[in-house]
Amino acid sequence: MKKIVIFASGSGSNAENIIKYFEGNRKIRVVALFCNRPDAFALERARRLGVPGIVFDREELTSADGVSARLRVLGADLIVLAGFLWRMPAIILEEYPGRVINIHPALLPAHGGKGMYGERVHEAVIRAGDKKSGITIHHVNEQYDEGAIIFQTSCDVEPGETPGSLATKIHALEHAHFPAVIRVLLERQHGTTRNNTPYNKYTT
Ligand code: GAR
Repeated sequence: MKKIVIFASGSGSNAENIIKYFEGNRKIRVVALFCNRPDAFALERARRLGVPGIVFDREELTSADGVSARLRVLGADLIVLAGFLWRMPAIILEEYPGRVINIHPALLPAHGGKGMYGERVHEAVIRAGDKKSGITIHHVNEQYDEGAIIFQTSCDVEPGETPGSLATKIHALEHAHFPAVIRVLLERQHGTTRNNTPYNKYTT
């Protein structure tokens, strides 16, 4: 059994979508949702789906007997940041090399970095006059949004597009692709992905 741990800070629609995607999968399961905000709706979504929610603060994220100790007890195989807004500390990244991934709601390296999350990203895309936006799933390192890219897909930014309408398109792309990319990554850990499928050509 491969175990996914999700980190989220806000609404948690991606977290919910990932949890549901792996319901009934005998080889892969979401075992916990870690959250830095006790009032985040992500915790409620996890609770409704029977996934334990774990709330932590900044000190617990960086201390040896805090979040990293709990991850070890859970036996996490992949840490998935789904709308998680704090930087992952070295203590966790060093213990899970290549096994912490993030989703960003734009085509990195454009429109990433500290403070670039959610609506702010979509506002920046529209302000820049970009004709395309999209999603980027990438490995996490100690710099915001700079780890190696695993998967990207794009959508058009149409005339009259608003941050809200773009957010709707981006969420649809995230929900359509993020779980399947996670599955391919975990199957690769198993060594069971057929033909060594590149992530950008994964099949659902
Ligand atoms: C998602 O669009 C995700 O890409 C973004 O936050 C949203 C969370 O939505 N993440 C970032 O901006 C990280 N820089 P959700 O809470 O509904 O899953």
